[in-house]
Amino acid sequence: MTGYEPIENASIDELRALQLERMKQTLAHSYANVGHYKRAFDAAGVHPDDLTSLEDLAKFPFLVKDDLRDNYPFDMFAVPRTDVVRVHASSGTTGKPTVVGYTQGDIDTWSTVVARSIYAAGGRSGDMTHVAYGYGLFTGGLGAHYGAEKLGCTVVPMGGGQTAKQVQLITDFKPRIILVTPSYCLNLIDEMETQGLDPRATSLEIGIFGAEPWSDGLREEIEARLNIDAVDIYGLSEVIGPGVAQECVETKDGLTVWEDHFYPEIINPETGEVLPDGEFGELVFTSLTKVAMPVIRYRTRDLTRILPGTARTMRRIERISGRSDDMLIVRGVNVFPSQVEAQIMEVDGLSPHFQLVLTNEGNMTDMAIEVEPDPGWSGDKDTIAAELKAKVKDLIGVTASVAIADLETIPRSQGKAQRVVDNRS
Ligand code: DLL
Repeated sequence: MTGYEPIENASIDELRALQLERMKQTLAHSYANVGHYKRAFDAAGVHPDDLTSLEDLAKFPFLVKDDLRDNYPFDMFAVPRTDVVRVHASSGTTGKPTVVGYTQGDIDTWSTVVARSIYAAGGRSGDMTHVAYGYGLFTGGLGAHYGAEKLGCTVVPMGGGQTAKQVQLITDFKPRIILVTPSYCLNLIDEMETQGLDPRATSLEIGIFGAEPWSDGLREEIEARLNIDAVDIYGLSEVIGPGVAQECVETKDGLTVWEDHFYPEIINPETGEVLPDGEFGELVFTSLTKVAMPVIRYRTRDLTRILPGTARTMRRIERISGRSDDMLIVRGVNVFPSQVEAQIMEVDGLSPHFQLVLTNEGNMTDMAIEVEPDPGWSGDKDTIAAELKAKVKDLIGVTASVAIADLETIPRSQGKAQRVVDNRS
């Protein structure tokens, strides 16, 4: 018995009963202690007592990022500030950061779901674990750190950046597990090659990748170049941080949502209507056990669908295809950077280092794909450019120009990748 399996072998019925009980408690606690929820529920004419089934949640109003900004910094807290042992913050592109807070109990819950995530990825007590997510206000580093410690791993709190140093510590400390963004992992692999090391020969066996959208093509590339199992971890600060959902290494078929702590819904982003499992839409979460800052129907803006459980009883979400705010509209066609990445990974001779440059002509947005070739590749640039252009046209439906960039000219990620350069006037 590990303690990090999801409420071991609970039946669906037991799980749903637990969720309902916890949801009732969360609604009552939020309504009683957070001005925002009192005002929002009253305005919508609903009361926590109106929830008698999980489906009743649909009667309650959504929480959106602007609500968190309007209550900056601490007005979303449901406990006295002195009961909050930690805050984190995520900086949006504009305006005030979004602040989140945790009681000691919340930190324990978070550590447990991350420990469970690392376990589902194949990690075990005693494993040397290299954490290359950023430490600080970002939830990635400390979230991964506490979870790995809770599982009983030996944690190397490397953080982001200092790429050469990272490679040295991987070589010397011989970690079995690495937690890092997929884009920064590419940097680490390139650095190993630059230093004349064979990335396939490191001690690493498991990579736990998240914090940004990535594709199955990139998974294959990283698994082949680093000789590891690469799995997906999902989360967001508002809901807790990393560890909301985790892909299981035995199936690699999307991410199991830790449903005993986070209740997922998929909605139509235009109408707000709840969609049945299996349909694509925007992911919405209600926290079931958080005390310092409960979230009720938080709109993540992440797009995916809910699928039945496979490796675990709990339901899965498909790999996030992108955020509604990252969606580009190029000549009327909706495009996510992760879709372009998936096509790049299909072309022999192209590396995963790319960026999308947007320009406009009148009201129309044009997209140029700038992508580096693989370092050892020596074929004809026009041929691979044409191949990518055709794939993007056929499979995404958009006409984009393709430029094969010189090696080392596309900016490298130190954390979350910035894929889009917006030169529109
Ligand atoms: O990125 C938490 C995290 C850290 C998750 C480390 C996984 C690993 P935020 O900075 O609040 O929190 O950003 C959350 O990042 O709404 C998604 O848009 C995106 N995101 C996170 N994980 C994934 C993933 C952390 N596995 C936002 N796939 C989320 C795609 C992801 N997008």
